[in-house]
Amino acid sequence: MMNSPIISLERLNGVERKDTMEKIKDACQNWGFFELVNHGIPHDLMDTLERLTKEHYRKCMEQRFKELVSSKGLDAVQTEVKDMDWESTFHVRHLPESNISELPDLSDEYRKVMKEFSLRLEKLAEELLDLLCENLGLEKGYLKKAFYGSRGPTFGTKVANYPQCPNPELVKGLRAHTDAGGIILLFQDDKVSGLQLLKDDEWIDVPPMRHSIVVNLGDQLEVITNGKYKSVEHRVIAQTNGTRMSIASFYNPGSDAVIYPAPELLEKETEEKTNVYPKFVFEEYMKIYAALKFQAKEPRFEALKA
Ligand SMILES: [Fe+2]
Repeated sequence: MMNSPIISLERLNGVERKDTMEKIKDACQNWGFFELVNHGIPHDLMDTLERLTKEHYRKCMEQRFKELVSSKGLDAVQTEVKDMDWESTFHVRHLPESNISELPDLSDEYRKVMKEFSLRLEKLAEELLDLLCENLGLEKGYLKKAFYGSRGPTFGTKVANYPQCPNPELVKGLRAHTDAGGIILLFQDDKVSGLQLLKDDEWIDVPPMRHSIVVNLGDQLEVITNGKYKSVEHRVIAQTNGTRMSIASFYNPGSDAVIYPAPELLEKETEEKTNVYPKFVFEEYMKIYAALKFQAKEPRFEALKA
């Protein structure tokens, strides 16, 4: 069984830098996914966040989820459910301004730890974008600038739990999709599996690995790189024997950022003049994505060419 690449960021310093950059390039070109270790985010911070997230789920989310499931009859379905996911979620926004103080039910400690974690992840996301620039031959800061718009990037976290499920083959934890935005950093459960990515028409597990950060690329990076890097479909299969935690943080363009293929990456193309990717304002993309998230991405790009 193949696994998505594992990359140690520690190896970016010193003689192994070139090798690490090659690994990142290969992962971006051929997987759209990779897993980071030695990323510099303190393990005790991750442990605390995991503990607080699981406590919060049990205290504030689990009962609500059970009620939703029984009100929709999701626990006794006989045929495949195509319009719902077996997940319990809430969202936190960090940039352009944080909304964490407005969210109900979070303890002061949870807010503080989430804030600290998000600051570290924001830095890591920007560091990664610059590594991508280097690999793509774009000037340092190009991607960050492309995401900037008038108020800077949007950065937010989707906190999800995928509870134990009696019929995972009939109700997906999260149906297959590509992510709309820029670069996504995922801190996932260290024991319960369920995330899968699509590689050469085959679903491949992204199994738990303690203290790692799973990185994947969204549709906007596919557009800006003119398809050199591609967003990759992924899904979550709920498990029959445990609840999976998923803390996914999305470093996305600002809503009014104008997204288009980097001219440098167009010029290097051969004579082909038919552009696959359109130019658009990010929030226009998100309007289309909201309706078409669980469908192929190509019609989304097509819709913006008009
Ligand atoms: Fe996703």
